[in-house]
Amino acid sequence: MSLLEGKIAVVTGGSSGIGLATATRFVEQGAYVFIAGRRQAEIDKAVAEIGDNVTGVKVDISKLDDLDRLYEIVAKKGKIDVLFAGAAFVEKTMTAAATPEHFDKTFNTNARGTYFTVQKALPYLNDGASIILVAAAGKNKGLPGRSAYSATKAAIRSFARTWTSELKDRGIRTNVLSPGAVDTPMFDSQFPSGEGAAEARKQIVAMTPLARLAYPDEIACAALFLASDLSSYVAGIDLPVDGGLTAV
Ligand SMILES: NC(=O)c1ccc[n+]([C@@H]2O[C@H](COP(=O)([O-])OP(=O)(O)OC[C@H]3O[C@@H](n4cnc5c(N)ncnc54)[C@H](OP(=O)(O)O)[C@@H]3O)[C@@H](O)[C@H]2O)c1
Repeated sequence: MSLLEGKIAVVTGGSSGIGLATATRFVEQGAYVFIAGRRQAEIDKAVAEIGDNVTGVKVDISKLDDLDRLYEIVAKKGKIDVLFAGAAFVEKTMTAAATPEHFDKTFNTNARGTYFTVQKALPYLNDGASIILVAAAGKNKGLPGRSAYSATKAAIRSFARTWTSELKDRGIRTNVLSPGAVDTPMFDSQFPSGEGAAEARKQIVAMTPLARLAYPDEIACAALFLASDLSSYVAGIDLPVDGGLTAV
């Protein structure tokens, strides 16, 4: 039996990496999925790759009008059963070199953008819906160069606790997924010149009990669990999918 038969899902960041793998799994399991991202070309590529039962919407989650427009489009199809808030970016900068612009941009997208992705979805969610927020294993580590990024992910973990309380009367579950290192464009984006990427891979592999990076689909499978009734008694958790990185 399909796990998401007849459900409507919204996947922000659905045009690449973990979000694309998640949208693909959701469609495979019977959902109709709206994917959101900023670059139209990437959205078009992702829609073509996923095939049926998917609509792409050009959205910048740091722009509130874009979020309003997204949910107006989704509403024409029906109410939302699953909201996967995965859109984010990382800009590797040591704190000593960080600018106010770097800090504001990181918080405006990753923390504020995720907050309003959910807040603006509330009137459009079905009772009993599942909200999945994407944090990162890094929020529990002291990774150099990720001070603002990791703090946005700690904020996201906190949002899930509050929303679990606030939305309990509607039976809406909010959970967090915290990936470790995943082989996506974001991982390599931390090393724009390519310099250091191979060394960073080696270091993360050495720190990870399962001794490799994750495939995006391994995170998508955990998202499918949180999205579906398989996790009907799971609320407010932070699920690490990190090969044991934060467990040891
Ligand atoms: N890869 C890892 O090692 C790793 C580890 C821990 C956590 N994570 C988290 O997992 C999530 C997905 O990451 P990924 O590795 O799959 O990254 P990715 O391949 O770079 O994908 C990021 C997605 O987010 C979208 N996005 C970025 N900024 C956006 C904005 N302002 N508005 C709307 N969409 C935006 C991107 O599309 P556009 O650029 O076209 O907007 C893209 O679809 C993120 O929350 C990330 O922090 C990743």
